[in-house]
Amino acid sequence: MDHHHQALMPQLAPYVGDEDSWSVCRGLYETLLAKPDSVLLLAYDGPDLVGYGLAHVMDTADTWIPDTWKRGARVGEIESLAVRTASRGRGIGTALLDALHAALAANGVHDVILGVLAGNHAAQRLYERHGYRPTWLHLSRSSGTPSQARIGPGRRPGPAG
Ligand SMILES: CC(C)(COP(=O)(O)OP(=O)(O)OC[C@H]1O[C@@H](n2cnc3c(N)ncnc32)[C@H](O)[C@@H]1OP(=O)(O)O)[C@@H](O)C(=O)NCCC(=O)NCCS
Repeated sequence: MDHHHQALMPQLAPYVGDEDSWSVCRGLYETLLAKPDSVLLLAYDGPDLVGYGLAHVMDTADTWIPDTWKRGARVGEIESLAVRTASRGRGIGTALLDALHAALAANGVHDVILGVLAGNHAAQRLYERHGYRPTWLHLSRSSGTPSQARIGPGRRPGPAG
């Protein structure tokens, strides 16, 4: 996934390498898979694993939601959704997401959140088709990324447009 993110938004470098990325993800996945209401779905094309989706359930009180929005007492989070490059554009991502929603709903969880890289427009289209709306935007300022902003001598702004 770090390769994917890096390819989509190289301007946010530096990125961690495979080893560090997997070490963090592995720890997270172990934690999430140990939770009672987590759902891991695997998509197969014949014998080939072509995609997966992972969701878990949180108390809404432990999220960024409750100081602003009215939602159910528990909320699902789509932690991960991925389809192998060669298998994309055939509805597998849609089927995985539908099945994650169904599994969460069967467990009484009807409100769902997720995070997606700002430059990942393909995923955002998929999520928006499933009713997700941009809600909370994280910004980052990295000491390792050269700033594009310059403050120069005052120039009177021209007419708007
Ligand atoms: C995002 C991702 C999971 C989507 O998976 P996918 O299997 O390609 O998803 P779908 O096939 O359901 O939908 C993708 C596109 O194919 C189209 N499509 C779906 N079924 C189709 C079919 N039978 N025939 C033609 N097109 C189809 C969809 O309309 C959609 O079109 P769009 O790109 O214009 O929005 C996949 O691109 C991926 O793994 N990306 C890398 C990981 C990632 O970014 N994950 C999400 C962030 S957590």
